[in-house]
Amino acid sequence: MSLLQKLGVSAENLAPEITGKYIGKPISRVDGRAKVTGNAKYAAEFNIGTGILYGYVISSPIAKGKITAVNARQALSQKGVLNVFTHENVPGLAWFDRSYQDQDAPPGGSPFRPLQSDEILFSQQPIALVIAETFELARYASTLVHFEYEVKEELNVGLELNLYKAKKPKKHRFPVPKPRGDAEKALAGSVVKIEEAYYHGYEHHNPMEMFASTVIYGDDDRLTIYDKTQGVLNSQSYVKSVFGLSEDEARVISPFMGGGFGAGLRPQYQLYMAVLASLELKRSVKVVLTRQQMFSFGHRPATLQKISLGASAEGKLQAVINRCYSETSTFEEYTENVVNWSGQMYQCDNVMLDHKLVPLDLFTPLDMRAPGGVTGMYALEVAIDELAVKAGIDPLEFRLLNYAEKDQNLDKPFSSKELRECYRQGAERFGWNKRNPEAGATLEGNNLVGWGVATGCWEANQMPSRAKAMLSADGKLTVSSATADIGTGTYTVMTQVAAETLGVAMEDVLFKLGDSVLPMSPLQGGSWTMATVGSAVKLVCDQLKAKLFKMAKKVENSPFGNSKEEDVVFADRCISLKEDAQQYLTFTEIMRKSKVNYIEEDTTSLPNMLEQNEYSRFTHSAVFVEVKVDQDLGTVHVSRVVNAVAAGRIINTKTSRSQVLGGIVWGISMALHEDTVMDDNFGRFMNTNLAEYHVPVNADINDIDVIFVEEHDDIVNPLGVKGLGEIGIVGVAAAISNAVYHATGKRVRDLPIQLDKLL
Ligand code: MOS
Repeated sequence: MSLLQKLGVSAENLAPEITGKYIGKPISRVDGRAKVTGNAKYAAEFNIGTGILYGYVISSPIAKGKITAVNARQALSQKGVLNVFTHENVPGLAWFDRSYQDQDAPPGGSPFRPLQSDEILFSQQPIALVIAETFELARYASTLVHFEYEVKEELNVGLELNLYKAKKPKKHRFPVPKPRGDAEKALAGSVVKIEEAYYHGYEHHNPMEMFASTVIYGDDDRLTIYDKTQGVLNSQSYVKSVFGLSEDEARVISPFMGGGFGAGLRPQYQLYMAVLASLELKRSVKVVLTRQQMFSFGHRPATLQKISLGASAEGKLQAVINRCYSETSTFEEYTENVVNWSGQMYQCDNVMLDHKLVPLDLFTPLDMRAPGGVTGMYALEVAIDELAVKAGIDPLEFRLLNYAEKDQNLDKPFSSKELRECYRQGAERFGWNKRNPEAGATLEGNNLVGWGVATGCWEANQMPSRAKAMLSADGKLTVSSATADIGTGTYTVMTQVAAETLGVAMEDVLFKLGDSVLPMSPLQGGSWTMATVGSAVKLVCDQLKAKLFKMAKKVENSPFGNSKEEDVVFADRCISLKEDAQQYLTFTEIMRKSKVNYIEEDTTSLPNMLEQNEYSRFTHSAVFVEVKVDQDLGTVHVSRVVNAVAAGRIINTKTSRSQVLGGIVWGISMALHEDTVMDDNFGRFMNTNLAEYHVPVNADINDIDVIFVEEHDDIVNPLGVKGLGEIGIVGVAAAISNAVYHATGKRVRDLPIQLDKLL
């Protein structure tokens, strides 16, 4: 009896490619146990108690000026303090240093290089690194280093104060579409119109894990670097470039990450600091940033969008104008895709989009979960709600009335777009048809109740990636790629794809990632890992199958002599004939009979750009929200959320749901809580801690319902997946904002919606 039959699986029921044994199932994380038992190690947790040195970073108290004097004598006189690195004594960078220039996600311009000059460009700029035998000593010694400064009083912080400095970026990462039609004229001729401005301020990434680098100084001056990063190859190429090292001299490892959210797309300065000290002292060094210092590099940029919309009396959109202003630093040009969504989401012939940058005396902004998407969709989706209200049309109805059948920005069809179905299923689950059209009219005890809807949209990209697979004669499969798991579940989903493709149990698969010696893979970001690395894993396992089948045909008395690969099934570590499941060979038999201990494949998966470029490729969602607003206190509670998401094939319904849940929680945070407050006089963020930088707690989160709408897509990548890392947050803040309006009749156009704005 074949193993298949023993398990009660009939071969006829197994599709040749994706059998559905693992794919599409709610499978728990393969690394779950390691994580909850503390066995999963993070960058700062390696080599504790091994005589490693500790670095403590000193941050500038001034926002702009020059360091005129440094006195480290007192610090250096402490027993156990080895060095204090400042701009006065650090070695120069490698002559060919390109710093971030070779990275996957660089803004243009000249990246900030720590300790390379006496100039202070932003508050909390790292100005020294104290190295000591213990962390506590390094921290104490940091208080004994004295700096003198020449302070420049004239500070440019605050987006709206500096709008007059706005200018077009030299190079936009996401070119703004050319105007179509005549938006100004169409607006003037519209019966229904709105002209409003929408704003959100600075927001900072606050993953649980602090940025950390542990550098192990090894034999032959080789470094092994445990770094908190979304891409080990990214960190490695940075270190190679800055310090002039070869690949062998700097290996970067990052098996786990305690949250990235975009903050780890670029190497942060603790990596530079730790490597610098290690190379200079020829010792192992660990540098961990403090929570306060987590506010000293990139953030979601404060953004102002002036939106004008015009519609006919029947609610047909006639004009869309979005003039956007967002901040950048004085030394780099950071752009994100904020306005393009305004030209893409709805059918409209007259569109004018513009995006200008305002340079401020702050660190350069940085991609944060759905960068630009949450920002652009927030403003657009509130504006659409306002227009629908003015037109006297239900906001969901209004969206359906202006549904875009093709991407007008690119003038291309969508590879797939089940947004209509998201609206339908979401509305049904939420009970939208029972909505009272009147705002401020539903009272429940002392609470005003409001319902809001908004659309979400995000990119569905595939990048090139390599993967390697090795099947041993005992049926164990090892698959590897240098990708990351920033908390998304990469280990689990890649294990699923590998097990499913080759026909082995998940327990027999080991997926390795997060090591620069592994096959090339891009950093984990842009929601592209499943599409990118997943496709590479599938491809390499397919190649392994072909190799194994070729071998199987050649073994003595092979049942597959005249068969083709389409005629057989790979399942339960066997190859069997589709027609006759009794005819099978186990993987072990095939390899034993062929006298090999293992077989291996290593391959690169490339997106089919020729085909993909014919289409516009995006995920979509419809977010429905209920809020309860206390009439007297103005406090807002999000009592219900339904988010219906169309993101192609769902590989793991459990980890996918977790991704979307996390996105929704962050959307609630964006709408109601998060705000880094700037002291305009000192150019300094004031609430650089989790006590004052508010994020939701359990009491803020109630019912959340996630629906995955079925969506078939043959274009996006061989797996038909679209990625889920970012779509969950998009649209949430707008839906909450719209619900708050529906509850109270008050329209708040800047985030977060704090209670004082409702009183
Ligand atoms: Mo994401 S902001 O691409 O990590």
